[in-house]
Amino acid sequence: MKPDKQVEAKIDALLAQMTLEEKIAQMVQIPYPMLGREESLRWAERGAGSFLHVLEKEAQEVQETALRSRLGIPVLFGIDAVRGHALNDHATIFPTQLACACTWDKDLLRRMGRVTAKEVAADGLHWTFSPLLCLARDTRWGRCNETFGEDPYLTGELASAMIQGYQGEDLADEDSILACAKHYIAYGEAVGARDACDSELTYRKIREVFLPPFQKAVDAGCATIMSAYGSIDGLPLTADACALRDILRTELGFRGFVVTDWQNVTSLVDKQFLAENADAAACLAAAAGNDMIMSSPEFFDSALRMVRSGKLSERIIEEAVRNILRIKLQMGLWERAAKSVKKADIGCEAHQSLALEMARRSLCLLKNDGVLPLTERIKSITVIGANADDIRAQYGDWTYFSHPLPHPEHPPIRPYTTIREGIETLAKTHGISCRYAYGAGPLHSEKDDLEEALDIAKQADAVIYVVGDEISQVGEGKDRADLALSGRQEELLLRLLALRVPLICVLAASKPLAICSAAAQAQAVIAAFNGGAHGGQAIAELLFGKCNPSGRLPISFPRHSGQLPVYYNQLPGWHGENNVGKYCDLPAAPLYAFGEGLGYSAFGYQNLRMDAETLTASVEVTNLGERQGLETVQIYFRDLVSSLLTPVKQLIAYEQVLLMPGETKCLSFQLRKMNFSMVNRTGERVVEPGRFLLMAGHSSKDEDLLRCEFALA
Ligand code: BGC
Repeated sequence: MKPDKQVEAKIDALLAQMTLEEKIAQMVQIPYPMLGREESLRWAERGAGSFLHVLEKEAQEVQETALRSRLGIPVLFGIDAVRGHALNDHATIFPTQLACACTWDKDLLRRMGRVTAKEVAADGLHWTFSPLLCLARDTRWGRCNETFGEDPYLTGELASAMIQGYQGEDLADEDSILACAKHYIAYGEAVGARDACDSELTYRKIREVFLPPFQKAVDAGCATIMSAYGSIDGLPLTADACALRDILRTELGFRGFVVTDWQNVTSLVDKQFLAENADAAACLAAAAGNDMIMSSPEFFDSALRMVRSGKLSERIIEEAVRNILRIKLQMGLWERAAKSVKKADIGCEAHQSLALEMARRSLCLLKNDGVLPLTERIKSITVIGANADDIRAQYGDWTYFSHPLPHPEHPPIRPYTTIREGIETLAKTHGISCRYAYGAGPLHSEKDDLEEALDIAKQADAVIYVVGDEISQVGEGKDRADLALSGRQEELLLRLLALRVPLICVLAASKPLAICSAAAQAQAVIAAFNGGAHGGQAIAELLFGKCNPSGRLPISFPRHSGQLPVYYNQLPGWHGENNVGKYCDLPAAPLYAFGEGLGYSAFGYQNLRMDAETLTASVEVTNLGERQGLETVQIYFRDLVSSLLTPVKQLIAYEQVLLMPGETKCLSFQLRKMNFSMVNRTGERVVEPGRFLLMAGHSSKDEDLLRCEFALA
C-alpha cells in the first residue's frame, strides 16, 4: 500500500471538520449483538467507526443511520469469516484453517479467500478477522483449529495467499474485503497453552519464530492487524508500543490499522491489572498504537476525558483516525455504502464445489496397511462414532452453531454431508451394505452404546470408526489438559481392535489427539480434522478410492499430552534422540510428524544437489505407484554451527507436483541467502558463514529426507 496524495488530502479535509468526539468515535468498534439494536443505533448516530457481528437488515439500518450522522462517514462492518462466511447460516462452509493448511496449496487458499470475500461482500460487510497467524506448538491450546499449524514458513505462505484472496486485486473492488492478520503476536504461545495467559518469550525469539509470518502478511498488503489478548514477558500487547509501533510499523512497514481483540482495553483493568481504571487503560491502549478498539465502548468517554485533561495527546487520536480513514477511503467505503448489495453468490454451487475440493485435499492419510482403498472383497461395512453423523462436530468452531448472530436458525442448513451420509451414498453405488452405530462420542452421553456397536462391527468386513472432539472442547478458553480420546471413545476403540475386523480410524477433530492405539493397531488412520460442509463426502471418496489423498500434516501429533510440545523445528536437546530432547518413558519422535501424509501412490527421491554459488537446490522425485499422485516436495535446512542454538531443521521451501505413474521430474528451488538466516542476540536477522545442511523429501522425518552439505561464505 503506497501513500496516495489524493487520499491523504481527503483525510486532511475530513479531520479538519471532525470534532474531538467524532474522532474518538471513529476508533470505536461496537459489538452489535452485545449492545442490542437501540444502543447500537445510538453509536451509529455518534459516528462509531465500525461494528462487528451484524448481518443483513440490522447492518443496513446501522449503515443508514451512520450515513445520516453529521459527517456521514460510513461504518466498516467486520465479521469472523474465518472459514468461509460461516457465521451466516446460508454461506459456504469450508474446512477449518488447520484442515485447509493440510493442503499446503497456496492457490487453493487464495481461491478460498476470494470466495469468502465475495460472500462477505454480498452481505454488505467489508472486513474479515482472518487469517490467524499464531503457531500451534503446544496443542493443548483450544484454538489450534484456527491456525495453519506449527510452522512459521508454511503459515506465512498460506496466510499471504489467503490475504491476497480476501483483498483481491484492488481494495476498492466491490468484492474485495479487508483481511486482518491476528493475533499479534505469539498469542498461541501462552504458558501451558492456557488461552490468553502470558507468553514467556524474549523479543529475539519473537523475531526469529513468530514475526516472519506477520512480515509476509504485511508484504502481501494486509490492511489490518489485530493486537492479541495476551502478554509477552509480562507486558500485554495492548500496551506494548514497541511491538505495535516500533516493530510493526517501523520494522515491518505496516501501513494499515491495528484493531484490538475483544475487550482488550477493558481487560487491561479487570483481567491484566495494568491500569487502575478505564481512563488509564484508554491512555495506555491509544499510546501503544491501537487504532480501533473492539468491544470496549467505555474507551470513548475515557479517551475524551483524557484528551480534555491533557493526559492523552489529541495527535495520537488523530493518527489512529488517519489510519482508519485511509483504509476506508482506499476501499471506497463511501461508494460501497451508497450501493445496494447483491446476495446472489452466497452459498452458490461454484463456491460449494471449491469447499468440496478443499475438503478432499485436506485429508491426511497417516497409515494404510493396504486396506484402503476399499476393494470388492469388502461386502459390508459398519460406520461407528458420534462424530460420524454430527454436523456440529464436523464443523467445529466459528460457524453459525458456535457463534450464533442476532437471528440464528438453529437447525443445520443444507447443503452438507456427514461422514455417515457420505459413506452410505458411495457404499450403495458399490453394492456394499452399510450399517451405522453411535457407539461412543467425545462426551459421556446416554446415547453411548458400546455393545450395539461391537455387535454390528463383528458382522462387517470393515469398520470405519470416527473419533474426535466436539464444540464444547474447542475454541477460546477451551484448552485441554488431556489430549487422549475423551468419553468412552478409547475404550470402544480397544474393544473394536480386539475383534480383529479391519478397522479404519478417522479423526474428525479440531486438532491432533493422542491416538496411539489407533496408530499401532488400526489398519488405516485418516486425519480429517473439521472438514466443513462437504467433509463427509470427501472422506467417503478417499475410502472408496475416488480421490487419491494428498494432504500433509501442518502440525505434529503427540503420543501423549505430556510429550508436548513436539513441533518438528525444535532447538537441539542434550539427552535425546537425533538431537531432539526426550522423556525417559517415550520416544523423542512424535506419533506423526510435520509434513507426513500418504497417498495411493508412493514417491521416491534421488539426486539432491545444492549449488552454493547460485543458491539453487534440485531434487528428482518419482511416482512409484500405479495412480497419478500429487507430491509435496519439502526442503529443510539446518545451520550446522551457529552462535546460538538453531533448529534441528527448518522448512524453507516446498513445491507440489502432480506425477503420472512411473514419472520422474526434477524440481529446482531458487533459494535466497536469507533462507539460511537466524536472529542474533541483538535482534538482527543474519546469515552466519559456515556449514549448512540441506534436506529434501517427503516429510520432516529424518528417514524421509535426502541430505547434502554446503558452505556459505
Ligand atoms: C477472538 C478473535 C475474534 C474476535 C471477534 C475474539 O474473541 O479472539 O479472534 O476475531 O473475538 O469475534
